[in-house]
Amino acid sequence: MADDQKTPSGPDLTQGVTSGDFKNDMLLGHVGDQDVLLVKSGTDIFAIDAYCSHYHGPLADGLVVGASVCCPWHHACFDLRTGEATRAPALSPLAVWKVEQEGGRIVVRAKKDQPPAKRAPADAPRRMVIVGGGAAGFAAAEMLRREGFGGEITMLSSDDAPPVDRPNLSKDYLAGNAPEDWVPLRPASYYPDLAINLQLKANVASIDARASHVALADGKTLPYDRLLLATGAEPVKLPISGASQPHVHTLRSFADSRAIIANAENARRAIVIGASFIGLEVAASLRARDIEVHVVAPEQRPMERILGPDMGDFVRALHEEHGVIFHLGDTVASIDGKRATLKSGGTLEADLVVVGVGVRPRLALAEQAGLKIDRGVIVNAQLETSVPGIYAAGDIARWPDPHSSEAIRVEHWVVAERQGQTAARNMMGLHEPFYAVPFFWSQHYDVPINYVGHAEKWDEIAIDGDVKGRDCVLRYKSGGRVLAVASIYRDVDSLKAELAMERSEKV
Ligand SMILES: Cc1cc2nc3c(=O)[nH]c(=O)nc-3n(C[C@H](O)[C@H](O)[C@H](O)COP(=O)(O)OP(=O)(O)OC[C@H]3O[C@@H](n4cnc5c(N)ncnc54)[C@H](O)[C@@H]3O)c2cc1C
Ligand code: FES
Repeated sequence: MADDQKTPSGPDLTQGVTSGDFKNDMLLGHVGDQDVLLVKSGTDIFAIDAYCSHYHGPLADGLVVGASVCCPWHHACFDLRTGEATRAPALSPLAVWKVEQEGGRIVVRAKKDQPPAKRAPADAPRRMVIVGGGAAGFAAAEMLRREGFGGEITMLSSDDAPPVDRPNLSKDYLAGNAPEDWVPLRPASYYPDLAINLQLKANVASIDARASHVALADGKTLPYDRLLLATGAEPVKLPISGASQPHVHTLRSFADSRAIIANAENARRAIVIGASFIGLEVAASLRARDIEVHVVAPEQRPMERILGPDMGDFVRALHEEHGVIFHLGDTVASIDGKRATLKSGGTLEADLVVVGVGVRPRLALAEQAGLKIDRGVIVNAQLETSVPGIYAAGDIARWPDPHSSEAIRVEHWVVAERQGQTAARNMMGLHEPFYAVPFFWSQHYDVPINYVGHAEKWDEIAIDGDVKGRDCVLRYKSGGRVLAVASIYRDVDSLKAELAMERSEKV
């Protein structure tokens, strides 16, 4: 396997290729031991590192959009001229290479120089405070520095760990397939190196919007010129007896994931309460650790409310194939030591219980500050709240979605990062609307489910392909209009759907 990975792909680009060697405007080759992707865009030919800087997705299987290439796995995009990661979830740039034409051959030998550093607007405010060290907060801080912002950035996080790759906490890391050092979004040295004043275990207790300062729980105050609220969400706790025992867990933070792993090391049997995305990802990860897993959930089909009946049946069957035992149409009434009593009257013994029954946005600070709230913090198209100078992004933000023409709030990693980035630019005074179509992915064993758009209800699901065969696109429609698209192993269709929705074209 290691040897395979070292074998460079395709033709040696230093020897040159011809235009006729391209397939779908792309050609994967190598320069030395480095895989490089050649991309035709109109009359231009670009060369870029061949793998995504997020999780190493193969860009050759992605989509070329103008002078960008987008990753098939989780829809990051890269500028083909500069290599910049223009759309999250990738945050790091890729190298771009010089393309030369020699006697009808296209030749690549050397990387281009890095593009010149960007410069923030001269009149950008000086003191940026970010409350939250998660997806949106981190992406905002990173974008401020990427855009050349030279003023103060303070990131206040109640977590005890620097920002982490939260989606990994229920997937590879929990399954034991990802080492500890994959989890932090950046090494600890990143923050001092970029002069980002990251304060951990810093719980912001209140905001004085008139005086433009935040107060920490320890009484310290901190002034700001622009403030970003990115406080995320917290798991709903079950109001049942026994829910606070040490072997009963919820999962949001790195510490939560570590605590489940520590418990899993000696566990034979687990109960997952709730057939949510996180609940079922946990179930899959615990099965990878050879633990017997029982999922107890009130619905008749997992995920039917979000993905519809066919996907719901597929997801259930997939987990059953891997040995998960479902107790649907039921709930856990109480947990007494290792014994859980179900509402239906039965009992289950388990050494480990994980509760995945949804999350609640953390709105307390925004409420206290007097911001307009309606099932989330209301923001305008530029992600500014009802108080000028205070922005909100991520799981707490309800924004005017131009695609559905509704004010929506979602709990998706990529949306939180993209909103953090847009908010950061707007905090510098760039006046940029947030226009991205929501995107999320979920991973169950070797099956990824991608979803673009937003459909709370629909009157038709048009299925293209074969759901059971793991090769499908489902279009959720209302009045004939496509609101959302879910897919399995149809990555280019998913990317095209996102693009079409953003351009208001037929999907
Ligand atoms: C286990 C797990 C797996 C997931 N997998 C996926 C997935 O596969 N795909 C997907 O699209 N989404 C996934 N999600 C959802 C995704 O992680 C969230 O939508 C995203 O993290 C939201 O980002 P955020 O910045 O709004 O909040 P968060 O990332 O939760 O960050 C909030 C931050 O605010 C801090 N904070 C809160 N209150 C205060 C305060 N008063 N003072 C200081 N700091 C405060 C918190 O400590 C935290 O650092 C997953 C979530 C979890 C928990
Ligand atoms: S691997 Fe490319 S976006 Fe995730």
